[in-house]
Amino acid sequence: MRVKLFTLLILPSLSWAAPNLADGKLLYDESCAKCHHTPYQSLGWNEMTNKIELSHMVEACSDYFQLEWNAQDIKDTTEFLNTEFFFLEK
Ligand code: HEC
Repeated sequence: MRVKLFTLLILPSLSWAAPNLADGKLLYDESCAKCHHTPYQSLGWNEMTNKIELSHMVEACSDYFQLEWNAQDIKDTTEFLNTEFFFLEK
């Protein structure tokens, strides 16, 4: 029983799923909107030139606030912010 529950919880987060914008929005609203507002507002660094930089900042902010986001959470939120604000092509 214990093993099964663990498998159920961990498997989705390990799969290389496509970014989920709805999840990204939920995560953002829950943990980020209190500072960055809705719609997103930059708080200093506007110089994101690609999505890798953007995802590093998403990760840095989530680490700083000890949210324990997994790779999928970071990917979802990066894509969500990109479609809302940054519009980076790669
Ligand atoms: C307590 C307030 C606060 C929260 C909560 C917060 N941030 Fe930030 N964030 C900042 C500040 C301040 C900066 C600017 C840092 C700098 O210029 O060095 C920043 C910078 C950023 C940047 C770089 C681009 C920019 O706008 O300056 C991104 C992307 C970002 N945050 C995403 C997030 C995400 C995603 C979350 C949710 C996990 C989050 N932040 C939560 C305060 C916050």
